Formats: sequence, C-alpha cells, structure tokens
Amino acid sequence: MCHMTSIPARRQTRLLDATPAGIARAAAILRAGGLVAFPTETVYGLGAHGLDPRAVRGIFEAKQRPPDDPMILHLGHAGLVDEVASPGQAARQLAERFWPGPLTLVLPKRAVVPAEVTAGLDTVAVRVPAHPIARALLVEAGLPVAAPSANLFGRPSPTLAEHVLHDLRDRIDAILDGGRATLGVESTIVDVSTSTPRLLRPGGLAVEEIEAVLGLRLLVPPQPQDGPQASPGLMPVHYSPRTPLVLIAGEPLTAKKRLRIEVEAAQAAGQTVGVLLLEDDIDIFSAGITTEMVGAWSDPTSSATRLFEAMRSLDAANLDVLFARDLADPSVGLGRALADRLRRAARRQVDTRH
Ligand code: TXA
Ligand code: MG
Repeated sequence: MCHMTSIPARRQTRLLDATPAGIARAAAILRAGGLVAFPTETVYGLGAHGLDPRAVRGIFEAKQRPPDDPMILHLGHAGLVDEVASPGQAARQLAERFWPGPLTLVLPKRAVVPAEVTAGLDTVAVRVPAHPIARALLVEAGLPVAAPSANLFGRPSPTLAEHVLHDLRDRIDAILDGGRATLGVESTIVDVSTSTPRLLRPGGLAVEEIEAVLGLRLLVPPQPQDGPQASPGLMPVHYSPRTPLVLIAGEPLTAKKRLRIEVEAAQAAGQTVGVLLLEDDIDIFSAGITTEMVGAWSDPTSSATRLFEAMRSLDAANLDVLFARDLADPSVGLGRALADRLRRAARRQVDTRH
C-alpha cells in the first residue's frame, strides 16, 4: 500500500468550550474549510466540510492517514441522507430505528460526494451521531461533515479532548471540548449498499439489535487475523499502543490463570509490565505492576467507556510489555466490539484453547 505522507500545514489549535458561542465558532471554521475535532457518543471525530475536496485532504494530512482509507459523512439529521446517498429499503429501516446513534451505514453514493471522502469507491459511509454537541455543530454548520476518529493514524481513538490535543496539536484548527465520549468505542458499520447486508465493523450498537430489525443474519467477514480485509481502512493492526500488547484469549477462568502466569514470567525476565485490568482480576496481582482498570466481565459498557483511555495511559507509562485478556464474551453485544479492538491492538495473541 502507498502511504503518502506529506508534512501537515501548521495550524494554531484552539480549544473551544461547548457553549453556543463555541459551537458557532466551530461551525464557521468548518464552513470555511478548516479542521475541527468534536465529541460524539462513540469517540471524538476530526471533521471537515464533507463536500469540499481540499478540506477533506486536510484531514488525511493532519492524521497522516493513508488516502485509500475512506471516511464517514456525519449528518445533523436523518432526513439529509438522500442528499449524499441512495438508501434502499433495509437502510431506511435501520436509519429509522437507530439514527441518531452509533450506527454507520455504507450506501450507494451520490455524485456530490467527492472521491476524497470515499477513497474512490462508489459507496459512502453515513452516520447521524446522537451526541447533543455533535448534533448542534452539524445543524449549525449546515453541511455533511466528513470525520474519521480524531487520532493520529494507527493510534487508539480519542475519548477525551486532551487525547485529541496530544495527537493533533498544531495540525488542526480547533477542538470542541465536550468531556468524555461515553460509549468509548466507534460506531457499528453495516454495508447495506447491496442486497446482502454485511457487518464491516462491530461497534457501539449490538449486531443482534440490527439483525432483529432486518429479520436476517448479517454477513460477517473473516476476523482481522484471518486474512484480507473487507473494508479498505480496516487493516489488522490499527488501534495499537506503541508498547507491545499481548492478548490472552479463551474462557474467562483459563484466561485469568494464564494472564497471571504470563505476567509473572515477563516480570521474572526483568520486564516492566502493564495490565489492562478487569475488576474480576484485582485479586491476582501484587506490587510492581502498573494497572489500568476497566470494567467487569459482566459489564462491557463500563469497559468500553474506559478501553482507549486505559490503553493510552498504559502506553504513556513507557513499560516493556502490556497484557490484557478479553473483557467480555467476545461473541455477543458490545463484547464483539471490545474483542475486535483488542485484537487489532495486540502484537501477539495467546489462545488458551489450544
Ligand atoms: O464512531 C465512529 O464511527 C467514529 C465517529 C467519529 O463517528 N468514526 C470513525 O471513523 O471511527 P474512522 O474513519 O476511524 O473509521 C471509519 C471506517 C474506515 O476506516 C473505513 O474502513 C470505513 O469506515 N468506511 C468508510 N467508508 C467506507 C465505504 N464506503 N465502504 C467501506 N468502508 C468504509
Ligand atoms: Mg479510526
């Protein structure tokens, strides 16, 4: 793949409060072709005027994102979808039921959408976020806003304004600070551009809910480690901390035991160790280990909220190696999204089933 990386233009990044004045300022910057990071209910997005190719190219430059990775158009309300795409019946059903919310639909695109947004594809990804500040910004801007997650390419998605500042300071024009993005994982992406709806990325909306509305099972492409990707931007390693992360997969009790063994072995080898810690595992660790607590196995919502923030904190601690086990049942609900993000972040996977 060709990673075209031009040096980003230097911009002065201003931090805007999510007041009516701050939102108006952010909307004006977007209309003028600038780059604004804003909160959504999933993660922070880095927005630009979605119909202005030059503005959209600025996003690729700021994030150092490869140009063959398409992005999502964000709309202020569902009624605007027909201006940028041609939704079929299944798409309309899903939009009706789940927008605004953490669902992205891949649809046949209209000519007005520039190739920069879709990486030359004839489909476009569209989402109506539920976050009140995102919606206010989109309505005030009065445009479709192209926005990937507001991290440097390959880094964990940002769930706080300070994460955006850390990655993109002096590369973007403004950050609208809306506090913590509560869901914490990105939207679920479903391709409804053909007659066979396909899951492209598990995310904040459970696959089971989507299937219930459609009355069918979504086609699920192979897991990241299994081979080529269904969606251009969804390469296997994506949400990676710089410190190598080892993921222990398998049944909870076995994985918990194995986690302890692996951590002790790394320590015995003289390595400094960090653990992404489930509440269920507090009892197995003693001193000398840096931990970042997420939620409990039975409560994937709280783990999702904390996942990327915890990865960033562990990474900042400059340790030799990080460990995690699955944070919830990887086959259902939000557990699928957590499992997907952990696998993309992991340098190595230990499967305790073998
Ligand atoms: O929750 C979210 O979805 C966040 C917030 C900001 O809305 N956005 C986000 O964007 O996660 P991003 O760019 O990090 O991930 C979107 C992914 C791309 O990596 C790409 O693989 C896929 O959506 N995508 C976009 N357009 C597509 C298309 N036309 N066909 C297939 N996949 C597409
Ligand atoms: Mg992203």
